[in-house]
Amino acid sequence: MADRTDGIHTMDFWAKFEKKLIEGSGIADFTRSRESLDGLWNYGIDQYDSCLRNGWYNEHQTDPDGRPLPLDYSFDEWDTIQVPSCWNLQSDKLFLYEGSLVYTRKFSYNADCESERVFIKFGGVNERAAIFLNQTYLGMHRGGSTPFFVEVTQVLKPENRLLVVANNTRRPSNIPMDNTDWFNYGGIYRSVELLRLPATFIRSFEVGLQPDSGFEQIYANLKIDGADSGTAVLKIPELNLTAEIAVIGGIGRAVIPAKPLLWQLDDPKLYDVEIEFGGDILREKIGFREIRVQGSEILLNGKSLFLKGVSAHEDSVANGKAVTEAEIRQVYSLAKEMNCNFMRLAHYPHSESAARIADEVGLLLWEEIPVYWAIEFSNPDTYKNAENQLTELICRDINRASVIIWSIGNENLDEDPRLAFMSGLAGRARSLDPTRLISAACFADGELLKITDRLAEYLDIIGINEYYGWYDPDFTKLPKILANSNPGKPVVITEFGADCRAGLPATGTRDDMFTEDFQLDVYERQIEMLRGISYIKGTSPWIFFDFRCPRRLHPVQNYYNIKGLLTADLRYKKKAFYAMQSYYGGL
Ligand code: GCU
Repeated sequence: MADRTDGIHTMDFWAKFEKKLIEGSGIADFTRSRESLDGLWNYGIDQYDSCLRNGWYNEHQTDPDGRPLPLDYSFDEWDTIQVPSCWNLQSDKLFLYEGSLVYTRKFSYNADCESERVFIKFGGVNERAAIFLNQTYLGMHRGGSTPFFVEVTQVLKPENRLLVVANNTRRPSNIPMDNTDWFNYGGIYRSVELLRLPATFIRSFEVGLQPDSGFEQIYANLKIDGADSGTAVLKIPELNLTAEIAVIGGIGRAVIPAKPLLWQLDDPKLYDVEIEFGGDILREKIGFREIRVQGSEILLNGKSLFLKGVSAHEDSVANGKAVTEAEIRQVYSLAKEMNCNFMRLAHYPHSESAARIADEVGLLLWEEIPVYWAIEFSNPDTYKNAENQLTELICRDINRASVIIWSIGNENLDEDPRLAFMSGLAGRARSLDPTRLISAACFADGELLKITDRLAEYLDIIGINEYYGWYDPDFTKLPKILANSNPGKPVVITEFGADCRAGLPATGTRDDMFTEDFQLDVYERQIEMLRGISYIKGTSPWIFFDFRCPRRLHPVQNYYNIKGLLTADLRYKKKAFYAMQSYYGGL
């Protein structure tokens, strides 16, 4: 009767499972062979977390003497749900559901070779996931937007039961916390795959243009799992480059003379790169470029750049956060139509396809972790969670030329605990990746009318969100802030905008808020005030397209944040779209 006892006496059962966290599990896996575990999984809506409380995952179906027990579940008789998907869009009863869903499926496994190591990769589960294989608890992952890898080598059998408790309950101590301005999708919404790796494999490798090398050197760093020393071989056929890299203590580092064609926005050149160690071969498509700041300038390959951007959530009408490659390509195509060269992927890591496709089409990206609004900045476990999500994001996208900025958060008040928390994250990002720029979306001081955020000292680019003309109707403040500030480094206006219901006819008065003419007026005034400010080196207005948001209950909004320049279905361009298109087209 052990399971029932668990249910009666276990109060904080999550803490029991949080003792075994899956963190920093990244594996470089592009071009590795993989077996898909996507498809129809059985599922149960486990509102009271009975699976975790009562140990359903143990599948104890008889008492110690073999007498059958009454069960409150039957995994294989449950309904099925598509993996990957957001459960919210799979059935009306799940649309607003927040809690746990128990997912389970069976799969067969035959070892290809005695020594292979087997991992299951989860591309993304919102927001936390407890993983069980064959009744063994393998750990819990926190963070809904980064991939994680679970080693299953020792637990696999010829026939296997995989069980995942996915939970999207919002919590104040989480990253993000329990109040955000976007829809709380839930579920295994990115692919699940089985990877077979050799006993010794390349766990990570980074290749790029060596900073400050006059574009005449590349770096290659790699980490080996399963061996201490040896020699790796790097090949870039198109550069006739073959280089040996000594591996010591599982680490290989090299700086190699090379003069690759640089990855440019109008010519996003990608090279086939291969790294081999001990028979394990990994291939990547790499764009070689350099991004850095100098004074108030942002330099791409040594040339000054203005980030002609727009912000976007990972949200589609049909698929929610489980966006498809086709949907990503459509968004990028529309961004280029608006003369953008940059996108702020808010407020959490988007699909890994987002950066891969941006590499191909030539767009620059701001990627962000959801350290959003009032985080528990004094909570060490909250910091550990944020730092892990940042680590997993950087590990995943370290080789993406399109990614130029790691953003450590959005709209956090300038208070001491927050400064300690976020300067720590900035330091972590720099230690993991000294080749990219660090930023965050901050506030200007609305009283002093000046950019004063102390976090700016730790950033390469200062992001500023301001809503003059909307949340603060007093537009006279914006020019004062711009004139009073002397940040000494590049500033990107990471948000400005106004709600607008597409097609809502103007009434011709200032009260015609939510109309296209009102939104257009805000954009035209913002553009005029921001234009020509020497230290402003980019804008990414909020937001490219309308998105689902449970905080937006005005009948005109209808549970959507409608600050989009496009409607949520991407079919309709509002008047302000053309204002941005013309502004960016003239830069
Ligand atoms: C904030 C926030 C966004 C939010 C936007 C809005 O600045 O960063 O996440 O959606 O403003 O209020 O529309």
